[in-house]
Amino acid sequence: MNKALKADRLSLGTCYYPEHWDKSLWREDLLRMLENGIETIRIAEFAWSKVEPTEGNFTFEFFDEFLEIAKETGMKVIFGTPTATPPAWLTTKYPESLNATMDGVLYRHGARRHYNYNSKIYQELSKRIVEKIAEHYAPHESIIGWQIDNELNCEKNEFYSESDTIAFREFLKNKYQTLEALNQAWGTTFWNQTYTAWEEIFVPRTTISNATNPHEVLDYTRFVSDSACRFAGMQSEIIKKYIKRDDFITTNGLFGNLDNHRMTEESLDFMTYDSYPNFAYCMGTDPEHGTDLNDRKWSRNLTEVRSISPTFGIMEQQSGANGWNTAMEAPTPRPGQMTLWTMQSVAHGADYISYFRWRTCTMGTEIYWHGILDYSGRDNRRLREVKEIYEKMKKLKDVAGSVYEAAFGVIKDYDNIWDSQLDVWHKSVEKTSQEGIFKASQLTHTPMDYIYLRETTRVEELAKYPVLFYPHATILTDQKVKLLEEYVSYGGCLVLGCRTGYKDETGKCVLLKLPGLLQPLTGTDVTEYSFIAPDEGKVYIDWDGVKVEAAVFNDLLQPLGADAKTVGTYVSSYYAGCPGLIENRYGKGKVYYFGGAFTEETAKVFLEFLGIAAPYKEIISVPKECEITVRSKNGKKYLFVLNYTKKPVAILLKQTLNNLYEDKEEKGEIEIEPYGTRVYEIKK
Ligand code: GAL
Repeated sequence: MNKALKADRLSLGTCYYPEHWDKSLWREDLLRMLENGIETIRIAEFAWSKVEPTEGNFTFEFFDEFLEIAKETGMKVIFGTPTATPPAWLTTKYPESLNATMDGVLYRHGARRHYNYNSKIYQELSKRIVEKIAEHYAPHESIIGWQIDNELNCEKNEFYSESDTIAFREFLKNKYQTLEALNQAWGTTFWNQTYTAWEEIFVPRTTISNATNPHEVLDYTRFVSDSACRFAGMQSEIIKKYIKRDDFITTNGLFGNLDNHRMTEESLDFMTYDSYPNFAYCMGTDPEHGTDLNDRKWSRNLTEVRSISPTFGIMEQQSGANGWNTAMEAPTPRPGQMTLWTMQSVAHGADYISYFRWRTCTMGTEIYWHGILDYSGRDNRRLREVKEIYEKMKKLKDVAGSVYEAAFGVIKDYDNIWDSQLDVWHKSVEKTSQEGIFKASQLTHTPMDYIYLRETTRVEELAKYPVLFYPHATILTDQKVKLLEEYVSYGGCLVLGCRTGYKDETGKCVLLKLPGLLQPLTGTDVTEYSFIAPDEGKVYIDWDGVKVEAAVFNDLLQPLGADAKTVGTYVSSYYAGCPGLIENRYGKGKVYYFGGAFTEETAKVFLEFLGIAAPYKEIISVPKECEITVRSKNGKKYLFVLNYTKKPVAILLKQTLNNLYEDKEEKGEIEIEPYGTRVYEIKK
């Protein structure tokens, strides 16, 4: 999939809402943005009524007038389609366009994203507004790209309207053809759920103990994703008819119950991401690592974005305090923190950074969601920081188009992500391992990628990585297994955790000996398994004299065949002495089957033992408070150092490197200021 942003330099933008301000401010605002290095704005994504104030009456003057000023000032524009906020006239006349709670109560007008993707009338009215807008505005010379809707599946990613039930039935008819096949796939014989007519099937509804058939919920999640992808596709097809040759189509994400890879492949040129690292404050403080590492959690999201678009844009980068009047109380970025967040995005592959928003809104739910400027619009510290960032971006011109270098990969796939949302057994191992591996990667300075297994994934895409973790591939298919076998037989090293291979594509458990379809590749037989009992404490496996925690759940293992050997043995619990880690040689590569979930410490041991930890240790030494990443292009390598703490830190350059901010060679110990960043070019 080559859905990357193609930029020849790094550039800045902001989100602007002409409809929120008196026209007399427009020109001055745009000129001030340009003076401070902001070259692009995104507009119009909620402004349906400015173009269609009443049903079927279209008027283009408002944005014509604004775009004229953009043209005169030289501001570039990304134009948004307004379907995230259907107007009051629409939802009042056509309530079937509204989303509903699981109990069927409609979400009424007054907030946003209150529509559902499957209402026929909403689809028609959306098509018409997108067509009118694209036809009229696309030729405008200031426009360089399009944003579809706004944050598809944000706020609500479950849909329970009547239109959704009708569309769900169609989705299922297409998928299963017959009710017999559906009953079989959903295991409806359990608890007497057998369906005898399509009309008996609904999107999930309120049930006793919230215990909706899990195989149905898995299909429902696929259906929600399919609905969002089709809605984006419908808009993309229209925009493509009118768009100028070099203009792009994107949308901003990333949100759940949505196959963002499929959506990007079908409908977008590349993905953009909305990055608000301060959300991490709302997620609590990591007891072990303190608040300093909060912002850094966002690197995990950026890793997700990179898996879709190796180079991408940030459509909304946090530039002020966060808050709705109804929720969230996140602080204003401290001096240097906006630069840190910007460079965090760039370090992961963002070549376009657009701040949310120019001036803080004086009305509505988002009066506390601060932009660069406060309400008065006066010059301030954050605007000065934007200007400084712009100066840095100019120095980093050549970084554009370079891609992140990972030392290993973590495999993901949507079926397993969605299964782990609905299945608490799956969720608890998955959560532990995803966090554990990410933290180990960050804190040992061993950069990682996510790789999504899709129907189109080729073994070459996997072969780039010497080591791949696929922590808990609960749902397996023949196609995935074949790909993994190819990867290993060509020389890859695959690391699997407990609970692998016990479900099929429907989410039903298999009758096979575990890990099911992966028994041959892993040379492993799971003879017994259990959650770790609460009174058990931590369970460890001895691996060459190192005690490795096997967290949450334990598979008890036996090696199968001549190429498999036990390399780790449980040293705790009643199963002490039983194999807990098996290594199997397969073709030119090998597979490790580990009997637990991966904590940070466990993942660190794997990175060490597999010889991939800290690939830049000969070049640089940084404390654990800093993240380092490398982007490379045409043999050139750019090393980013990000200090996430409010304290200065010391780093050690072991080779002479070129500090790109100052265009000066540096070596030895360097102090980096609080929230400071550096970008070095690594010399050959
Ligand atoms: C994003 C959204 C923006 C704005 C911002 C602050 O999720 O795309 O429109 O709402 O958050 O809440």
